Amino acid sequence: MEEKKITWSTLGRIVKNQKFLNSLIWPEKKWLMLGMAFLSVLVSIFPFLRSGAEALLINLLTTTKNISFYNQDLIFYAVLFLVASFIPAFIRSVDRYFEMIFWYYVDEKFKFLVAEKNSQLDIATHEDPKKKDLFLRVREDALFRVRQFSERQFRFIIDILQIVIALGVLTTSSWWLLFIVLLSTLPELLVESKYGRRTWATRADQSENWRIFWRYHNYLESLRHVVEMRIFQNVKYFLQVMKKTLFGLRVEEKRHEKDRLHDSFLSQVLSQGTLAAVYLYFIYQVVNGEILIGTFLFMLASLGTLRAGLSGLALNLARHYEDSLFMTDLVNFLTLENIIKSRRQSYKLSRKNPPMVRFDNVSFSYPETNRQIINNFTLEIKAGEKLALVGLNGAGKTTLIKLLCRFYDPSSGGIYINGHNLKEIELDSWYDQIGALFQDFGTYDMTAKDFISSGRISPSASMREVIAAAKKSGADDFIKKWPNKYEQMLGKEFTGGLEPSVGQWQKIALTRVFYRQPRLYILDEPTASIDAEAEAKIFEQLENLPDDITVILISHRFSTVRKADRVAVVADGELKELGTHEELLAQGGEYARLFKIQALGYE
Ligand SMILES: Nc1ncnc2c1ncn2[C@@H]1O[C@H](COP(=O)(O)OP(=O)(O)O)[C@@H](O)[C@H]1O
Ligand SMILES: [Mg+2]
Repeated sequence: MEEKKITWSTLGRIVKNQKFLNSLIWPEKKWLMLGMAFLSVLVSIFPFLRSGAEALLINLLTTTKNISFYNQDLIFYAVLFLVASFIPAFIRSVDRYFEMIFWYYVDEKFKFLVAEKNSQLDIATHEDPKKKDLFLRVREDALFRVRQFSERQFRFIIDILQIVIALGVLTTSSWWLLFIVLLSTLPELLVESKYGRRTWATRADQSENWRIFWRYHNYLESLRHVVEMRIFQNVKYFLQVMKKTLFGLRVEEKRHEKDRLHDSFLSQVLSQGTLAAVYLYFIYQVVNGEILIGTFLFMLASLGTLRAGLSGLALNLARHYEDSLFMTDLVNFLTLENIIKSRRQSYKLSRKNPPMVRFDNVSFSYPETNRQIINNFTLEIKAGEKLALVGLNGAGKTTLIKLLCRFYDPSSGGIYINGHNLKEIELDSWYDQIGALFQDFGTYDMTAKDFISSGRISPSASMREVIAAAKKSGADDFIKKWPNKYEQMLGKEFTGGLEPSVGQWQKIALTRVFYRQPRLYILDEPTASIDAEAEAKIFEQLENLPDDITVILISHRFSTVRKADRVAVVADGELKELGTHEELLAQGGEYARLFKIQALGYE
């Protein structure tokens, strides 16, 4: 953990964070920021104008006998006093308006920056448990604090200007007074910053527990999980775990609050006591005729503003410091570098050449693990070939797909597309050729048509193509029976939504791949939840794809697999057998064994 103590480098860090955020905000909101700065200056000046005019007014009234209502000085001071009294109300309204506009802007800006960054980070970074804590702190805390942090710089203008002006006023009385007042504020500053740091440190220490808490919290909100919990009768158990976790998390925070109460009480005694002494001193001066009543009131008001400015500054500095720790998280997050890097001068694949894929002696272990999941895997997939990958659960089939999509880089060996190492290919030009259906595909709450046409983003989704794709996957059969047909809202959480069955979801997801019209289909158990008859039809579609379209299909159904041009059998991350269905059967190896087991089941 960094930054346990407040040092110059922590202050440097605050400045750095502020600079980083402002460099994002300033170019887009110059005028708003300048406007807010200007208003802050006005806000700090007006209280002095008002109490100054008031002092002059009182001095005039108390020293001039039989003063006329039309006395020139009187009129001038009175007008000054009135103007200085009512203008701040208008300033405050405008200030509030600017502030809200600024808040909304910062909130939107950073919500999107974080979402965008999340989507750009590679899978390996997302799966890194250490990064997960950072992600959580960014989502739960930093996003909420970034608004305060960027807004508070204007508070500083007010605090500092008020202090400077008040000091200027009070020095006309006596300068040693200032020292006492300044010194008495110091403990407050120390107390605030001490607890600011603790709050962050506790949060940071307990990130993982907070993650557990939120995970359980989400389970209880997800229908899928709640249904399971009810039937397993363990809702109570989940609630108890949550309670225990939250209670544990709060124990330390509650203790901090108690300590803080104690410390801030002491620091208040000191500063309020000092103030009382200074008041007495001023009264003494008035009694001795050293200052006029109006001046006395002006000094009191200035002293009050000075105190307010100083404790405001202390409080704001402390909060700023606390927020800055979270801002460091945000800055770290926004500047995270991907592990998988696209070279600057990378090779662009052309859609003209159908992709030929070659795994060349690929070995791979997942980051931060020791077990080698893929072992010296070599396989060439010709352009236009329909290849089936088979193997037991955990053999490494999905991992091979992830490597092919460059979610990870091989630990050794390489993957080549048309002879170019995947590491040197511009990923966008590669993804342009791929249509993938992952085993754990995502479902989206949008209309069927929007979801399917999201397979290929173009200015106008063609309904004709959507339907044609749905016919290939067999989804058309049920979509056209829905009340709103292709405009049907998917997912039950939105008005008029309808929950497709698991198999239907899979068909819809597959439709999206067909709609994309890729050069390379990557299908990871695309028909796992689809009935045998529909599956046969889908595979017929895949078989009938033009000769230059490649298909890599993972499936456990041999009725489908047997129709592929070639079958690759994967076991323990190695390529065990390769050939046509007939060849592999004749070999009498693993493939033949698995095939016979399934065939027996049908007899
Ligand atoms: N993200 C991951 N991190 C670490 N290990 C993983 C990860 N994903 C999969 N594995 C491991 O890799 C092995 C192969 O998994 P996978 O490729 O999904 O198998 P298959 O698709 O053939 O069933 C399994 O032992 C699994 O536990
Ligand atoms: Mg798999």
